[in-house]
Amino acid sequence: MSDHKITFTYLSQEDLLEAGCFDIHMAMEVAEKTMLAFKDNRILFPEKIVQIFDQASQDRINCLPATLLDEKVSGVKWVSVFPGNPALHGAQNLSAIFVLSEIEKGFPTAVMEGTLASNMRVAAMGGVAAKHLSRMDSEVIGFIGAGEQAKMHLLAMKVVRPSLKECRVAAKTIEEEEQFIEELSPLFTDMNFVSAKTHGRAAMEDADILVTATSAQAPLLKAAWMKPGAFYSHIGGWEDEYEVAQNCDKIVCDDWDTVTHRTQTLSRMYSEGIISGADIHADLHELVSGHKPGRESDDERIYFNAVGLAYIDVAIGLSMYQRASRAGSGQDLDLQQCMIFEHPDIMKQVRL
Ligand SMILES: NC(=O)c1ccc[n+]([C@@H]2O[C@H](COP(=O)([O-])OP(=O)(O)OC[C@H]3O[C@@H](n4cnc5c(N)ncnc54)[C@H](O)[C@@H]3O)[C@@H](O)[C@H]2O)c1
Repeated sequence: MSDHKITFTYLSQEDLLEAGCFDIHMAMEVAEKTMLAFKDNRILFPEKIVQIFDQASQDRINCLPATLLDEKVSGVKWVSVFPGNPALHGAQNLSAIFVLSEIEKGFPTAVMEGTLASNMRVAAMGGVAAKHLSRMDSEVIGFIGAGEQAKMHLLAMKVVRPSLKECRVAAKTIEEEEQFIEELSPLFTDMNFVSAKTHGRAAMEDADILVTATSAQAPLLKAAWMKPGAFYSHIGGWEDEYEVAQNCDKIVCDDWDTVTHRTQTLSRMYSEGIISGADIHADLHELVSGHKPGRESDDERIYFNAVGLAYIDVAIGLSMYQRASRAGSGQDLDLQQCMIFEHPDIMKQVRL
């Protein structure tokens, strides 16, 4: 019998959930460890491939590869972002699938649902940033945007700042705010949830932690709403006026170089010549490694922008796959039983 069989594990979202992979602590630990590996040049991180199907809607499917040299794993996230999905179809904006391969023979080891890992990665990076940059005594968190990223972000923020007592949320519709509150309030019975009735100002003014996670392309967050000492996590595209960043004492990115190639508010400011690398305090890995300080005073306003780093996605995906494998979750599927010409009677299958 041939020993050229290739088997991989297929993991659905439900397999991952059953195996205990919806673990924000795990995602943050993996994110921190992987940022340090990146700093030590132990990561391959090629530029992502972007395919935008419609400039007006920004419907897109992107392909984001990365390799973790120490773990000997290469992976890719195939992710679609269709911002109109919630309004048009009542469906999620983002959906992702991951493929992981080992890099000894180069064979695939896992094909897995990736939306969970991807959304947890965004939140984990925000959580790690908040650990270094928000006030320890933060009590009020405000959101503009009540979608998938916002919900996940609250989980990470509450993990790093258990002092949070109030969560205010503004979205495009009151129904969405209510849904956010209905879904998350049972988990955080020590928090008071407030629907801002679509008014960004009511959600954000005087909050200790501000989060924008919208599909809008507009300056929704105003600088005047951000008090001294506040920490702002920017997740979406263009969703704050330029003065927000200009008023901040520190700007930190997941990766400034990557930000300069994207379309977030900071990217726009960079391409318009309003800010440069000299205005950026640090990339997040420099805070994690202790090479640069995080928050240094109670009064600093601090801006954090993560555009998304595929190697953190792949690392979180890998840790989920490992946990799921230990739990016996998922299905082993055969990719092939043997090499092509080893199949008995293969010549009968050939069509010329
Ligand atoms: N930075 C990253 O790494 C990263 C990763 C994934 C997604 N994203 C981005 O995060 C954003 C949110 O993604 P999501 O999956 O949560 O989307 P979603 O569609 O689930 O939620 C979007 C939210 O934006 C709100 N919104 C839209 N226009 C608004 C307006 N004018 N005023 C107030 N609220 C408004 C909607 O009401 C909704 O609550 C998207 O822009 C997405 O591309 C960023």
